[in-house]
Amino acid sequence: MPAIPPNVRGAVITGWGSALPLKVITNHDLEQTIDTSHDWIVDRTGIHQRHVGGSTVGLSVESGRATLEMSGVELSSIDALVLATTTPDRVVPASAATVQHQLGLSCGAYDVNAACSGFVYALVQAHGMIAMGAKKVLVIGTDTLARITDWTDRNTAILFADGSAAVVLEAVEGHGQLLGWDLDADGAAEKFLYSEVGGLIQMDGKEVFRRAVRIMVDSATKSMNHAGITADEVALVVPHQANIRIIQASLDRLGLPMEKTALVLHRTGNTSSASIPLALADALDNGRVKKGDLVLLVGFGAGMTAASAVLRWGGTTADGADPAVLP
Ligand code: UT7
Repeated sequence: MPAIPPNVRGAVITGWGSALPLKVITNHDLEQTIDTSHDWIVDRTGIHQRHVGGSTVGLSVESGRATLEMSGVELSSIDALVLATTTPDRVVPASAATVQHQLGLSCGAYDVNAACSGFVYALVQAHGMIAMGAKKVLVIGTDTLARITDWTDRNTAILFADGSAAVVLEAVEGHGQLLGWDLDADGAAEKFLYSEVGGLIQMDGKEVFRRAVRIMVDSATKSMNHAGITADEVALVVPHQANIRIIQASLDRLGLPMEKTALVLHRTGNTSSASIPLALADALDNGRVKKGDLVLLVGFGAGMTAASAVLRWGGTTADGADPAVLP
């Protein structure tokens, strides 16, 4: 992917929010139904529990509403809603259209399916819309994978779950937060992770694992190169929450310490399109990001897609100036 041209109108994130279904399934619960153990799941994945339930529209409305409230933007000023999801509630229309209506928005609304990389794909697209004149864009990542998970298959039932998180992007004067990005896909690898329409997830876990580390490292490196930064300058990494061993192996190769990682995997499981924004929202809620920090988002997913982005939090310029949000 090319580097961002100079002088495009940028954006900053001014609000965020998340939603998880109330129902929790622990590893001990899974021990009752499939041949597995809490210790095995924790050791091989890092997951302790996952939330399941709700619909993609319902969770998106909840996280979207919280995000809009936090940012304080007028509903009528939102120019577009992009919903990253692999599990829309219907084939047609896009779940985003229903979410738009339920949130009281009047703007374009569409779904993006890039599997677990979907949120970063949507975020990059939203920056593109802002460069083309939009001023405020709501980006949501939601998945309800429990509906397409075979709960008798210990290969996948231990991993997948439901959740949603969102951000509002607002246009700023001059360069915003996005310094570099990369999107990738390799359709030849689709056989390793897929679900037919109306079917359940089929996965070759070992092959996905092997490729995941490689493509996360490759994508993150490209984004950092485009941004003109090195790994040691990154303050926070927000990786796709798939498996703690994938995260560890990728960060090792990138030369990034685990202390710099946003993690919610232990309590959420793999929520696909929601995984990166859920971890980002958690880190923000816990005050782990300050103005000017460099944040690296990086994910991979079915397709096999990969996506990454380097953000300078708040869009603060190198000399410390604060870009003004456009009305
Ligand atoms: O968003 C992307 C989504 N997908 C992924 O991220 C998947 C990436 N892959 C993975 O996360 C891992 O490959 C898994 C967690 C799915 C599996 O872990 P693994 O370390 O690759 O396990 P394995 O398939 O090599 O199995 C190791 C052993 C085997 O026993 P033996 O042959 O050594 O006696 C399996 O039969 O563990 C056994 N096993 C289990 N035991 C308890 C496999 N699954 C389980 C289980 N509980 N759920």
